[in-house]
Amino acid sequence: MTKYKGFATKAIHVAQEPEPVTGSVTTPIFQTSTYAQEEIGKHKGFEYARTHNPTRFAWEKNVASLEGARFGYAFGSGMAAIDTVMRLLSSGAHVICSEDMYGGTFRLFDKVLSRYGYLFSAVDMSDIEAVKNVVRPETAMIYTETPTNPMMRITDLSEMASIAKEAKALLVVDNTFATPYFQTPITLGADIVVHSATKYLGGHSDLVSGVVITDREDLAEQIKFLQNAVGAVPGPFEPWLLLRSVKTLALRMEKHQENAKAVAHLCEQHPDVKAIWYPGLSSHPHHELAKKQMSGFGGMISIETGSFEAAQRFAKTVKVFTLAESLGGVESLLCHPVSMTHGSIPKHQRDRLGITEGLLRLSCGIEDSEDLLADIEQSLSVL
Ligand SMILES: Cc1ncc(COP(=O)(O)O)c(C=O)c1O
Repeated sequence: MTKYKGFATKAIHVAQEPEPVTGSVTTPIFQTSTYAQEEIGKHKGFEYARTHNPTRFAWEKNVASLEGARFGYAFGSGMAAIDTVMRLLSSGAHVICSEDMYGGTFRLFDKVLSRYGYLFSAVDMSDIEAVKNVVRPETAMIYTETPTNPMMRITDLSEMASIAKEAKALLVVDNTFATPYFQTPITLGADIVVHSATKYLGGHSDLVSGVVITDREDLAEQIKFLQNAVGAVPGPFEPWLLLRSVKTLALRMEKHQENAKAVAHLCEQHPDVKAIWYPGLSSHPHHELAKKQMSGFGGMISIETGSFEAAQRFAKTVKVFTLAESLGGVESLLCHPVSMTHGSIPKHQRDRLGITEGLLRLSCGIEDSEDLLADIEQSLSVL
């Protein structure tokens, strides 16, 4: 597939050959909407920029290689990527999805796609029997996040792949939290991986983008068709930024994880933290599974502070962490899921999942550990 073995080498070199005209070491931003044709029916393979853009193509090839796959397709946002994947199905299709997942994905399924005849069963994907129990003849897809946003549950991807295979359904995995540095679902049997590239792949909180990856030629053809037919593509600048960002993904993920482990240990020992979810802690209910299918645990942690008032005091006290939506940037971010990212999930479902008024989600950045620890310590002291 590629001549490079290591993750960082692939991130830096796949589809990153010097540009042939000038030798430019970085891929140029091809800021054009169209391409001159020599005569009718004769061109260089590039016709119109919704369909063809060399900067986007370089990024698509590069990110696919990181997931251990051949085909990547870039989109204007993570939601555009997910929406396009859902268009592989038709009205009447049944989709089994995680009950705990990004609120925007839940909203797309519940408020948009259900109007077009899609049927959804939301289950606890960490419970294999629960998934098996909702499979029906019309089940066309199993859609999961792992780790989930925000409760950090882990789905057994090999098990899901065998359930999907038996049901003749697609297994789609949102790999945003783990990134291909720590987890490659396609190598575990997934058919399709999606990302909000806005998060770790971009890594600097300065872009919105999405990507769909597959190693199946039949699916690649359909996704490519939909990418062009629906047209939710990014311009060339985001793929260029992503090509630059991904070169440091390996370094960044190591530091995100180092900081998250330190913060998780501090929170776990603190008497005023009522509960903590980080898959790298041996107390996490799915720690063993995470160890089996991931090569690291990432930079995301959720903590229960006990009440909205405690969460508010914590959020007002942090100095290095910034209270903001999103995650995966070099700067540490703090999110209150109920009021920010998961507001569209009905309260009864949030309560069942543990997405309470006191829940806070921490995206540990790559600042110096001692500054993050001091910040968390002084913020926990006001709980
Ligand atoms: C796990 C996950 N998937 C998908 C998305 C949607 O991505 P975007 O905001 O780039 O549309 C998000 C956004 O927060 C997310 O956290």
